[in-house]
Amino acid sequence: MKGLPKLAKAATCEKLKAALLAHLKETEGHVTKLEQVFQSLAQKAKGKMCKTTVALLEDGGDIAGEFKGSPAINAALISAAQKVEHHEIATYGALHEWAVLLGNSQTASLLEEILGEEKAANATLTKLALDGTDKEAMGECSCKEDSETECSDRQPAKLRRSVRPAGLNRKRAPALV
Ligand SMILES: [Fe+2]
Repeated sequence: MKGLPKLAKAATCEKLKAALLAHLKETEGHVTKLEQVFQSLAQKAKGKMCKTTVALLEDGGDIAGEFKGSPAINAALISAAQKVEHHEIATYGALHEWAVLLGNSQTASLLEEILGEEKAANATLTKLALDGTDKEAMGECSCKEDSETECSDRQPAKLRRSVRPAGLNRKRAPALV
C-alpha cells in the first residue's frame, strides 16, 4: 500500500498511473479481507513488513531511476510492479491451497477473491506493457510527425545504452519503498 502510490507518482503514462491507483483501492480491500481471515481463525491481525516486497521495490526503484526522464520509465515501473504481483500471487495461491486443505471454506473464499484481483492486476500490467509502454520505451511514439511540439519519445530509448561502471553517472533512483 505504501509502494503503489510511489509507483503511480513516478509513472508518466496516464493509463499506468490509473491502473496502479485502481490496484491500490483493491489492496485496501485486501487488508479488510485479511482481517476477516484472521477473525475466522480467532487470531489477532497485525501488520508485518514483507522483506521480499521491500527488496523487489528497492530493485524496481533502482531500475526506474536509470530511466528517469525517458519514456522507458513506464516499462521499468511495470516490470517492478509485476515482480511484486507475482510474489503476491505465489503467496496468496499457497495460502488459498492450505485453507482448502484444512477445510476452512470461509478463509479459502476470501483468499481466492484476493488471489483473483492480484492475477487481474498482473494481467492489466501485461496488457499495458504490450499495448504501449514497451513500444514507447523503444522510441516508437504515437505523436503526429507534423506536431510543433517536440516529442521526447522520438529519441531512441536508453534501453540500448552502453555498458558503464555501476554507480557512474547514475541518476538518483526514486524511492518506491
Ligand atoms: Fe497486488
